[in-house]
Amino acid sequence: MRFQDQVAVITGGAKGIGRAVALAFIREGARVALVDIDKAGLAALREEIEKLGGQVLAVCCDISNSSEVREMMNLVQKTFGRIDILVNNAGIIRRGTIETVTEEDWDRVIAINLKGTFNCCRAVIEPMKRRGGGKIVNVSSIAAKTGDITSAPGYGSSKAGVDALMKTLARQLAPYGIRVNAVAPHAIETEMSAQWPEEKRREIIASIPLGRLGRPEDVAEAVLFLASKSASFITGEILDVNGGMLMD
Ligand SMILES: NC(=O)c1ccc[n+]([C@@H]2O[C@H](COP(=O)([O-])OP(=O)(O)OC[C@H]3O[C@@H](n4cnc5c(N)ncnc54)[C@H](O)[C@@H]3O)[C@@H](O)[C@H]2O)c1
Repeated sequence: MRFQDQVAVITGGAKGIGRAVALAFIREGARVALVDIDKAGLAALREEIEKLGGQVLAVCCDISNSSEVREMMNLVQKTFGRIDILVNNAGIIRRGTIETVTEEDWDRVIAINLKGTFNCCRAVIEPMKRRGGGKIVNVSSIAAKTGDITSAPGYGSSKAGVDALMKTLARQLAPYGIRVNAVAPHAIETEMSAQWPEEKRREIIASIPLGRLGRPEDVAEAVLFLASKSASFITGEILDVNGGMLMD
């Protein structure tokens, strides 16, 4: 068990990629804090994990709100006594172009994807420093590197911001033994990708050398690798999980 007794906080943990990450950590012996705004999703996954015999805390928290995030991290520490791993996975997407996107949509995407990641990172620094180290893994996107024609401009912009934040924190926190990395998924089958128009779905599969969409478990494996001892000399890295679509 790679993460026996460690505590992992997973934002957006109620479904999709976050759910797969949570289940993968549980299988590897970790205790998991699920953080989400989807109360029903949180309750369902908490029950599923408890049935597996896993230790889980489910917290309803909007990561764009810094005081909610501070309270949530305090609760995790009170419950489990430590925080070893933070997976910044919660994110939203909006469709549109520079001409059609509303200012409200731009603000919401930046507030959750970028500021939410900042809020969560800031709130775990102290507990991680106290333990002499920690691991932060951000779930970015291929859109940060390539842009995207169908998602509204805020999405790729927020994820590029998440990547720059990750590299800055990797430098600033290395002296404290805190490693900060990212995965950049593309075309993973979740509710988010279910919003793709059918034509876009076909085009995407045709453009992926491995010839299929990704599974949430594919991303979870990459996240666990970056959080594990096997990656102990890796920080500031973006690991692509895209079936070979972008090789950079
Ligand atoms: N699915 C893909 O193909 C794909 C590709 C690249 C990147 N990503 C990224 O992976 C991450 C997870 O995506 P997914 O496809 O699993 O999406 P999803 O919509 O299935 O899950 C996202 C989760 O985040 C939660 N969430 C949204 N706003 C929140 C907030 N303010 N506070 C707390 N939780 C909040 C949602 O309730 C949901 O449970 C996102 O950051 C997304 O940008 C996904």
